Amino acid sequence: RALRSCSSAPSPRLKPSAKLSVRDALGAQSTNGERVKVQGWIRSVRSQKEVLFLHVNDGSSLQNLQVVADSSFDSRELAFGSSVEVQGQLVKSPSKRQNVELKAEKIEVVGNCDAKTFPFKYKERHPLEYLRQYPHLRCRTNVLGSILRVRSEATAAIHSFFKDNGFVHIHTPIITSNDCEGAGELFQVEPSSKIKLPEENFFNVPAFLTVSGQLHLEVMSGAFTQVFTFGPTFRAENSQSRRHLAEFYMVEAEISFVESLQDLMQVMERLFKSATTVVLSNCPEDVELCHKFIAPGQKDRLEHMLKKNFLIISYTEAMEILKQASQNFTFTPEWGGDLHTEHEKYLVKHCGNIPVFVINYPLALKPFYMRDNEDGPQHTVAAVDLLVPGVGELFGGSLREERYHFLEQRLARLGLTEAYQWYLDLRRFGSVPHGGFGMGFERYLQCILGIDNIKDVIPFPRFTHSCLL
Ligand code: 4AD
Repeated sequence: RALRSCSSAPSPRLKPSAKLSVRDALGAQSTNGERVKVQGWIRSVRSQKEVLFLHVNDGSSLQNLQVVADSSFDSRELAFGSSVEVQGQLVKSPSKRQNVELKAEKIEVVGNCDAKTFPFKYKERHPLEYLRQYPHLRCRTNVLGSILRVRSEATAAIHSFFKDNGFVHIHTPIITSNDCEGAGELFQVEPSSKIKLPEENFFNVPAFLTVSGQLHLEVMSGAFTQVFTFGPTFRAENSQSRRHLAEFYMVEAEISFVESLQDLMQVMERLFKSATTVVLSNCPEDVELCHKFIAPGQKDRLEHMLKKNFLIISYTEAMEILKQASQNFTFTPEWGGDLHTEHEKYLVKHCGNIPVFVINYPLALKPFYMRDNEDGPQHTVAAVDLLVPGVGELFGGSLREERYHFLEQRLARLGLTEAYQWYLDLRRFGSVPHGGFGMGFERYLQCILGIDNIKDVIPFPRFTHSCLL
């Protein structure tokens, strides 16, 4: 591809330039006039007297690199949004706004941008709802850039947490024949009708996109003791809510030889606090941008969450609190009923905006795999949800029913005995008390950044009536 140059070629005597990211250029310690090459997209163009100032960004940093060019460069070629390759000398900047700037010797426009039809305007702060219409371009804005860099950093922090704590990473399958949660919110997988199959059915059994990797993790925790997975999860929930997606990422852990919910809750709390502390220290500018411009007050709310010990209440206590609330709920709180979003919000507020674990739910509300508490007529299971400010339910977990006869009876009542023979086998061959949890990764990002709509923390959101790109 021919590159169009905005200036004459540099003198052939000059050394070839070292390629630097904007982030590395901005952090350069010595500025002895090294020749460097930087590639990126123009974020602003400003001419002042005989000098042209460009801000160039390549996504490696929230900060732009200032490029200074003399009047020999044609500013008409250098439009907002165009991609460029700049070669020049990295020098100390006279401005207080940045330490270094790039004195351009050569600027090549790699790809022009038609600023008139480009959906984003220079210096305008576009609302997140507006940006959502452009999933193919919104990553070039400051705000989506910051959110997605935080997402990347948080992914690494979560992997580090598990590695540092002796967990083995397992790739659980995306295509599965089980409905772990038993809620029937499944996307069925079938080959396209163009594919001629020797048999009627590709897999011989109905196959689905996974709703959770938990059952596969349980298999693996029976060999590796502590395991985790972090991958895409799919739910055919007919919801347009600000905290549900049809495709979301879930962080799931499974731990053998765990005997109490207390042990599980400790891991959940440590995971939340450790990953968040790393994110805050590794990308403070990106987090600050979200806190300042999208969620004022979020910085203090997050510090409050990190400082306090998370609280614990039982489902029964939660219902009592809700019943005594002066607020009128759309769904009347009643023992045996679900905790709805409005209830979760109320409980978190009631707990002083400290994350709160709600434990021991009615057996009838929860999936077949949760451990029976054998606690008389109320009949609860050892389940735990973590509710957090601004989001509601962030984690869901439980002790698993590791006792063969209890599990066999539960499965028989649901008519699942045959399908789950392999799962019963885990209780026949060296069963151990165990438990685990899943954390919705997008909800985690919403919680730490204070972002109201889940569609803004995932690169390409999928939800009812929407699968753009
Ligand atoms: O509570 P859930 O359904 O738990 C499970 O799937 C367990 N099998 C996990 C385990 O124990 N290994 O989902 C866990 C979390 C929820 O607390 C929520 O944060 C998130 O996943 N989540 C969603 N996030 C976005 N969109 C959706 N449709 C979600 N459904 C659940």
